[in-house]
Amino acid sequence: MTQSPDAEVVLPAATAAGDGVVLRAATTADLAALDRLPGLSASTRRGLARQLARATADARGDTVVVVATRAGVLLGAALGLLQVDDGHVVDLAVAPAARRSGTGRALLGALTDELRTRGARAITLEVRAGNLPALALYRGEGFEVEGRRPGYYPDGEDALLLWQRGRGGTRDGGTHRDHPDATARDIVTRGG
Ligand SMILES: CC(C)(COP(=O)(O)OP(=O)(O)OC[C@H]1O[C@@H](n2cnc3c(N)ncnc32)[C@H](O)[C@@H]1OP(=O)(O)O)[C@@H](O)C(=O)NCCC(=O)NCCS
Repeated sequence: MTQSPDAEVVLPAATAAGDGVVLRAATTADLAALDRLPGLSASTRRGLARQLARATADARGDTVVVVATRAGVLLGAALGLLQVDDGHVVDLAVAPAARRSGTGRALLGALTDELRTRGARAITLEVRAGNLPALALYRGEGFEVEGRRPGYYPDGEDALLLWQRGRGGTRDGGTHRDHPDATARDIVTRGG
């Protein structure tokens, strides 16, 4: 997926995501709807205008914002950053009424594919340790838990650090080496 204003891709996974679901690069015209999307973190919301402007200005840059829409209505969004050789999933959210229809998986796949197209050799993200829906989604897409950041979130909840090393992870033969209670490899730096 190329980050240009008129880029629209009906995913091969459109069936899983529901008929008529379109994934495309976000534009600044999506800002108002994105700002109303439940599930985005406060920090994402604060940086949304800047991230969208960057993503729109540079179609091959380090910022990727993908949205899912049906009949022009925003269903969800995924934000990512390319950091040298690694892609980072900054945030992912699907509107509550649209959940459990494959939209989150489709958004995640489109985002990671685009980050890899731009040069990411692996994809990483942090997720709340208690966010079981998101964890199930990520693990199903080949992400593995490789560390824990104690008290990472403002309310004191731990973050789990996940990596997807191979394209598609377990979908192309990777192994499950998850360490949900990792200690030896714990990373205790806050906010990194
Ligand atoms: C996490 C989130 C993006 C998932 O979106 P979604 O569109 O409902 O996800 P999908 O329908 O594509 O589900 C894909 C897989 O994720 C897992 N999953 C999703 N929601 C789940 C739930 N409530 N309980 C258990 N597993 C769940 C399942 O494995 C599912 O596969 P399946 O339907 O074949 O069983 C959505 O719940 C959300 O926006 N949550 C709030 C924001 C958030 O927590 N974002 C993650 C930040 S790191």
